[in-house]
Amino acid sequence: ATERTLSIIKPDATRRNLTGKINAKFEDAGLRIVAQKRIQLTIAQAGEFYAVHKERPFFGELTEFMASEPVVVQVLEGEGAIAKNREVMGATNPADAAPGTIRAEFAESVGENSVHGSDAPETAAQEIAFFFSGLELVG
Ligand code: CMP
Repeated sequence: ATERTLSIIKPDATRRNLTGKINAKFEDAGLRIVAQKRIQLTIAQAGEFYAVHKERPFFGELTEFMASEPVVVQVLEGEGAIAKNREVMGATNPADAAPGTIRAEFAESVGENSVHGSDAPETAAQEIAFFFSGLELVG
């Protein structure tokens, strides 16, 4: 089925001018960018977005990193978009990411791993609503 998923191009990637190269990977895989904006998160907003990781030892590092420089938040649409996006991103840790994936090519570490993607339909819906209103989604 056609799905939508929330993607974030993270500060390590925007800093290195990789937005276009990463978007090309999504588009080449058949994912359509149906909404996109560049924003700078506060630490509080990053903490709200990643609330599920609040108890993890890396939570402080994660939220400071995500607020450190601009991010590009986007909605990707396509057949099986959630799984397809995760395939294109590669494993969370770039050391484990398959060749040709975004994280294998661009990520610097498990924390500074260039992209985020929703992991399931429920989280995709929540994460899209966190950043976008219905009016901003133009399929
Ligand atoms: P993401 O898919 O955005 O979801 C949570 C993020 O936490 C994850 O990608 C990583 O960037 C980050 N993360 C996971 N494990 C670690 C870790 N051990 N140290 C620092 N950051 C981590």
